[in-house]
Amino acid sequence: MPAKADLYRTAARMLGTIDKSGWILRYRYGDRRLLEDVVLPALNRDPAVESLLLVGCAWYTRHYPGLLPRKRVMTMEIDPAKAAFGGDPHIVANMTNITEHVAANSLDAVICNGVLGWGLDEPDAVEAAFAGATTCLKPGGLFLLGWNDISPRNNCPPDTIAALDGMEIADIPGLDTHSLIALERNQHCYQAYRKPDEG
Ligand SMILES: C[S@@+](CC[C@H](N)C(=O)[O-])C[C@H]1O[C@@H](n2cnc3c(N)ncnc32)[C@H](O)[C@@H]1O
Repeated sequence: MPAKADLYRTAARMLGTIDKSGWILRYRYGDRRLLEDVVLPALNRDPAVESLLLVGCAWYTRHYPGLLPRKRVMTMEIDPAKAAFGGDPHIVANMTNITEHVAANSLDAVICNGVLGWGLDEPDAVEAAFAGATTCLKPGGLFLLGWNDISPRNNCPPDTIAALDGMEIADIPGLDTHSLIALERNQHCYQAYRKPDEG
């Protein structure tokens, strides 16, 4: 484990050096471009959004907090070694325990891309994680889900997740649609929900 953490830290340092040259090493696939060039910039422009949580960190997401320079961005990742790719603040935690780390009604948006079906797999864990995310969202807060509707990643499709039942359908930031398939090859879908306003 220390070896993995060291490897990720070294990779993060090297990537950080390259990033500073202005040449961000990143995936060029359409699903990533949509997230990085449309969705996150739209959130950054939205004056109603102040604080966000990005769940799941990898070498290719290390620059995501930097795409939201006007916002308070925290990251969460279950693998301690991947803290090297997280932002500041970064929370090492299982999303199922999100309410132990993030205050209720405190977030304007939770971006949960590539976590469902990528470690967050069991129905009970999915329910706990998404119910917790809902608790942490302010009324009107956005839950953006990215998932792969392809085996073995789609054992818990969103329409089977009770924790999302109380959420309203919303448009994906920057787009006029609630859901879309962003990449055919791996059936990477984005779907947006909003926590209902109180009252
Ligand atoms: C495929 S990567 C996706 C990373 C990133 N969110 C993205 O946009 O692609 C999945 C990451 O989610 C993390 N993960 C899986 N289950 C998790 C959980 N229950 N809580 C927090 N992180 C989790 C994994 O450790 C892994 O780093």
